[in-house]
Amino acid sequence: MPPRSTLRLAPDAAGMAEAGRLLRAGRLVAFPTETVYGLGADATDGRAVAAIYAAKGRPSFNPLIAHVATPEAALALGRFNADARALARAFWPGPLTLVVPVASGEAVADLARAGLDTVGLRVPSHPVAMALLAATGRPVAAPSANLSGHVSPTTAAHVLADLDGRIDAVMDGGATAVGVESTIVACLDGPPVLLRPGGVPRDAVEAVIGRPLASATGEATIAPGMLASHYAPKAAIRLDATGIEPGEALLAFGPGAPSGAADILNLSPTGDLAEAAANLFGHLRRLDASGARRIAVMPIPAQGLGEAIRDRLARAAAPRD
Ligand code: TXA
Ligand code: MG
Repeated sequence: MPPRSTLRLAPDAAGMAEAGRLLRAGRLVAFPTETVYGLGADATDGRAVAAIYAAKGRPSFNPLIAHVATPEAALALGRFNADARALARAFWPGPLTLVVPVASGEAVADLARAGLDTVGLRVPSHPVAMALLAATGRPVAAPSANLSGHVSPTTAAHVLADLDGRIDAVMDGGATAVGVESTIVACLDGPPVLLRPGGVPRDAVEAVIGRPLASATGEATIAPGMLASHYAPKAAIRLDATGIEPGEALLAFGPGAPSGAADILNLSPTGDLAEAAANLFGHLRRLDASGARRIAVMPIPAQGLGEAIRDRLARAAAPRD
C-alpha cells in the first residue's frame, strides 16, 4: 500500500466538512466514538471498504459494523424484530451493536458484511461521531482503528501509532469515555445472542428483552470476527495474578494494590469498573511499551462492565501464532 500523509483534523466545522468530503470520496478517516476510535469508510463503496481491510491488515472474512447518525437510518438498513426494536430504543445512541438480517435492497456493500445476509448496525453517541455521520450522509463502516490483532485505540495518538501514513485522516476528539468496544447482540431467529460483551452490561440488555441472553456457541458461524487472540499486546499476559514475578509489569485493580513503580498501573484505584474499562487499552499499551516480558493482571470482578474487561484480557492472554 502506498504511503500517504495522514491529516490531523480538529473536530470543528471545517474539520468535519473535510472528513465528510474525504469519506464520500472513498477515503479512510479515523474518528472517535464513545467506545474506541473507529477507522471509517463509506459502507456503500466496496472499494473504500476494501481499503479498510488493507490499512488494518485484517482478514477479509471479518464483517464490519455500519455506523449511522440516527436510529431511523439504522432501521432502514436491517430487519428489526421486536427484541431488536426494543434494544434500539433503549440503547441508541450508545455502545450497542445489533446484528440483524440485512434489509432487501439496502446499500451496505457485500464486503462490509463479509458476504453475510446479516448486518451489524450501531448509532454511536459521541458528539464528534454523530456530527461526522450526519456530515457524511451515508452509513460508515468502521472497525476499531488499529492494526489487526493490536489493542483498540482510545486516543488519536494511539491511532497514529498504528496507522500514520496508512490512512487519509484522523479526527482528534480526545480520549474516549467508555474505553471498551460496543456490546454486540444478534437478533435473528430465536432468542437474542450475546456475540461480544462490551460497553452496555449484559444485565442492562437482559432487563430490556425480559429474558437471559443466549451465548454464542459455535461462534465461528455467526461472528467470524471473534478471533480468540484479537486484543494482543506484544508482552505475554498472566491473568488473575496475586503478585508480580521477575520480568513482569503489573496491571493492578482496586484499592490496596501495589503501586509506586513505573511498570505498575492501576485500572481503577477505587475499584470502579467504568473507570477500569476507560483505562484498559491505554494502560495495556503503556505497560507493553515498558518492555516487560509479561504483564500480570490482578483479578477483575465479572459483574457489569467487568464481563467485557475480562473478555478482552482473556483474548489478550490467548496463545498466538
Ligand atoms: O465499539 C465498537 O464496536 C467499535 C467502534 C469503532 O464502533 N468497533 C469495533 O469494530 O469494535 P470491530 O470491527 O473491531 O469489531 C466488530 C465485530 C467483529 O468481531 C465482527 O465480526 C462483528 O462485530 N460483526 C460485525 N458485523 C457482523 C455480522 N453481520 N455478524 C456477526 N458479527 C458481526
Ligand atoms: Mg477491533
